[in-house]
Amino acid sequence: MAINPQHAADLAKVAPLYERVKTVIPDIEWPVHASYIAAINDLKVTQNAVILAHNYQTPEIFHCVADITGDSLALARRAVDTDADVIVLAGVHFMAETAKLLNPDKVVLIPDVRAGCSLAESITAEDVRALRRKHPGVPVVTYVNTSAEVKAESDICCTSGNAVEIVESLGSDKVIFIPDEYLASYVAEQTDVKIIPWQGHCEVHERFTADELNSFRSSHAGLTIIAHPECPPDVLGAADFVGSTAQMQNFVVEKRPSKVLMVTECSMSDNIAADIHDVEFIRPCNLCPHMKRITLENIQRSLETLEPAVEIDPSVAERARAAVERMLAVGK
Ligand code: 13P
Ligand code: SF4
Repeated sequence: MAINPQHAADLAKVAPLYERVKTVIPDIEWPVHASYIAAINDLKVTQNAVILAHNYQTPEIFHCVADITGDSLALARRAVDTDADVIVLAGVHFMAETAKLLNPDKVVLIPDVRAGCSLAESITAEDVRALRRKHPGVPVVTYVNTSAEVKAESDICCTSGNAVEIVESLGSDKVIFIPDEYLASYVAEQTDVKIIPWQGHCEVHERFTADELNSFRSSHAGLTIIAHPECPPDVLGAADFVGSTAQMQNFVVEKRPSKVLMVTECSMSDNIAADIHDVEFIRPCNLCPHMKRITLENIQRSLETLEPAVEIDPSVAERARAAVERMLAVGK
């Protein structure tokens, strides 16, 4: 079979990157990724673009084309620092909206606009107004996994990495905490502030069960279980550590458990396993179909066409930005 010279050149160019991911991407798959990775890394230079990738992106995105990686909080913080003209958000739509709120003059791209989130879908701006009417004077703390319209009705945003700190920063004895019911109950356990929740759930984390975790624990001696706070309370009760995706990653990097089960989206374990070779990852995990809409192919197309770009109605953007900026100011 004739070898396409361009493909051979691309393979040679990206060979050093394969070294970083060879334990998590089979060598038979690598040639499929190589030309996209070479093209994307060239396009980033010509378009003066950066790629922000969430911890749930696949290893070929996370390790081979992303400039900045992390949890929702890190991506929001780092989005403010960039002097690139173009930001590509390899993650879901609410993350791209947050980046746009913080960078109104930059082009912010989301390679597939259908990359949504069940939590963001669970609540509307009118729902928040109704909650305020029902609980007059009670401040609204809104998880970043929401639309800009919902953020605009809120006093302050939070992420899973800072939720308790944000709730306590308000000095109120009561807060409305939307939309994740399970994150709300986790926060309520850590604070004396009374939490008024909403019934939103993450479709990925709500599927784990405590029975599943307990049966893994009994079949794997010495297993450490770490879970994301979007999981139901009995799942969190069966875990040894609870934290945001960045806190879960730090836990593994610092504590080096011999065997770990990460109760979260599948790509988390792959991305950490690419760097850490002395930890065994036990993998029941659930895929987020929204995160998986982002591919090397649509990142390349997005960089070529500068579409789809995120736009937010200015009357919404101003109020939503204030809620995100209040969050970023806490703990500074
Ligand atoms: P964090 O990365 O902020 O922990 O969020 C997890 C998540 O589900 C984002 O969609
Ligand atoms: Fe939303 Fe859950 Fe997917 Fe995160 S993992 S984007 S919370 S559906």
